[in-house]
Amino acid sequence: GDTELAATPPMGWNSWNAFSCDVTEGDIRTAADQLVETGLRDAGYEYLVVDDCWMADGVDDEGRLQPHPDDFPSGIESLAEYVHGKGLKFGIYSSAGTRTCQGLPASLGRERLHARQFADWGVDYLKYDNCGDHGSNDAIARYSAMGNALAEVDRDIVYSICEWGRNEPWRWGRNAGGHLWRATHDIVAKWTTDEQEFGLGIVDIIDQMHERGMDPHQGPGGWNDPDMLQIGNGPDSGQSKLEDVDVDRALTPAEERTHFSFWCLFGAPLMAGNDLAAMDDWTRELLTNEDAIAIDQDPLGVQGTRDGVLEETEVWSKRLAGEECAVILFNRGESTTDIETTVETVDMPVDAATYTVRDVWNDEVRETDGQLHATVDPHDVAMFRVIPE
Ligand code: GLA
Repeated sequence: GDTELAATPPMGWNSWNAFSCDVTEGDIRTAADQLVETGLRDAGYEYLVVDDCWMADGVDDEGRLQPHPDDFPSGIESLAEYVHGKGLKFGIYSSAGTRTCQGLPASLGRERLHARQFADWGVDYLKYDNCGDHGSNDAIARYSAMGNALAEVDRDIVYSICEWGRNEPWRWGRNAGGHLWRATHDIVAKWTTDEQEFGLGIVDIIDQMHERGMDPHQGPGGWNDPDMLQIGNGPDSGQSKLEDVDVDRALTPAEERTHFSFWCLFGAPLMAGNDLAAMDDWTRELLTNEDAIAIDQDPLGVQGTRDGVLEETEVWSKRLAGEECAVILFNRGESTTDIETTVETVDMPVDAATYTVRDVWNDEVRETDGQLHATVDPHDVAMFRVIPE
């Protein structure tokens, strides 16, 4: 990938978690309007991506994808124009197989045709899934074919490889032309899932992001992707095959804050996935917290890692530009707990007499000679930016 594109983790909104396969051009126009009205665009959420189900069930005589005639009657080009008119960028979805995950036509063997088609439509971002028949082609070949095709078109298109982390895409995603690659299986709006359930919960993903050893592979232009945000969503989100259940919110406020804090510590792509027209103040404030977003968008592009575990509490940190550091104190347990650490433990790059500690979620600023601590509720975090003086 080109490192000027996605020099920092891409931010935006994607239709899947909120709408799954029931998505129409009206939903996308509303999402574009809402990104502007809610302030999310100005906070950095720039790419508006239509996920699966925008296409018709057949291709044209040349093999080109067609918009669904009832759900996207105005066509993709006019939708992209509308989105661009709002000061946003427009993204679309296909799959590196014969079919998408919802059984619609996809791009295997037609990569150059479809890349040209996307460029002609004004597409700025492609999410490229892993469903359908793969023929005899391995993942690297399938994802490189589209990466090469996108490199040939006369338009900058961010390339999101959605291979679910199966073949360690952090090792080859950049060479395949990718700017981000899904590092884990599908996120669902749950704290955790067991093996019988579809998808991964928030803490399952947090653990895998650390344990799979992908962090050295991330940096400007190429991002490990722990999947899209489930903040503000109900428990059916991301599980297209399940019936709606009668609960408003899947995650507690603490769990949502933990979810957002870790995605920012990871330097993850931040793709909101909630129904923006129904967004409450809590969700909007969480998604637009400037200190958290600045940690996510830090120019060094480091993926934060775990420094230590003590019973059910954990200390995580991320090196930031300017010899600063971001810290998370995480309480995985079920009772409120004091968590302490020091600047030595979190690997501050310099030794100073005094450090300024900016508390991301409480808007407080303190000074310390090296001790860091907070009282943290169950499933919650404290998050700091630590600045040597
Ligand atoms: C896969 C992807 C999801 C979503 C769906 C769409 O499960 O991992 O993010 O794009 O397909 O069908």
